[in-house]
Amino acid sequence: MTQILAHRGFSAAFPENTMKSFIEAEKAGADGLEIDVQLTKDGEVVVIHDEKVDRTTNGIGFVKDLTYRDLQRLDASYKNKKWLTKEPIPAFSKLLEWLTTNTLTCNVELKNGIFPYTGMEEKVISLIRHYKLEDRIILSSFNHYSIVNCYRLAPEIETAPLYSEGIYMPWIYAQSIKSKGIHPKLIAAPNEIILRAMENGIAVRPYTVNKEKDMQRLFEVGCTAFITDNPVKALEIKEKR
Ligand code: G3P
Ligand code: CA
Repeated sequence: MTQILAHRGFSAAFPENTMKSFIEAEKAGADGLEIDVQLTKDGEVVVIHDEKVDRTTNGIGFVKDLTYRDLQRLDASYKNKKWLTKEPIPAFSKLLEWLTTNTLTCNVELKNGIFPYTGMEEKVISLIRHYKLEDRIILSSFNHYSIVNCYRLAPEIETAPLYSEGIYMPWIYAQSIKSKGIHPKLIAAPNEIILRAMENGIAVRPYTVNKEKDMQRLFEVGCTAFITDNPVKALEIKEKR
């Protein structure tokens, strides 16, 4: 049964990567979340997509140059005109604590492609272990060195490389870096690739799937999961089938 993972939470309707968007995704019936993490100046793992706070909050600057306390003063719902209540940038630990109260899967994307964020993998893994969520987390990144490092540090936690262009026989590539899944951009996930990967024991979770025809295709082929901004739309299509 194809799982629905809410991209940055229920980001089609709520401010992305906030507890509000995660709670609403769970209420809507999503199977899980996809979230992004960065590291603050003082080493806190926080849930935010961009390296800078400018696009999604009322602040300016790089996350790496701001302390956790600086970030707590910002409003992560500021740029979303449909949502007027202040929403903080969540600490990763806060999200993990909330995940212990439900059964959601959580795909954690390490945003370490631009800044290396020394020690990020260790901190993320340590928090996941603290909350005993190893079997409900999938670690992904466009930085495949980081994926290899995550496996080295925590072989018990599933990893999946993210990629936006085709990889030749991606199931072999995944196996070579000890990943049990792949997270291709939708355009790099035709049915033939999905089926071959799954036949070879590799989970496939394409991103970011928002059109009905694409959702229909992925349900039809029995893809492991897909990542969408709109879990309500995905569930409606799933239930109509
Ligand atoms: O994890 C899939 C997707 O989130 C990757 O792209 O830019 O939305 O983080 P982006
Ligand atoms: Ca992401």
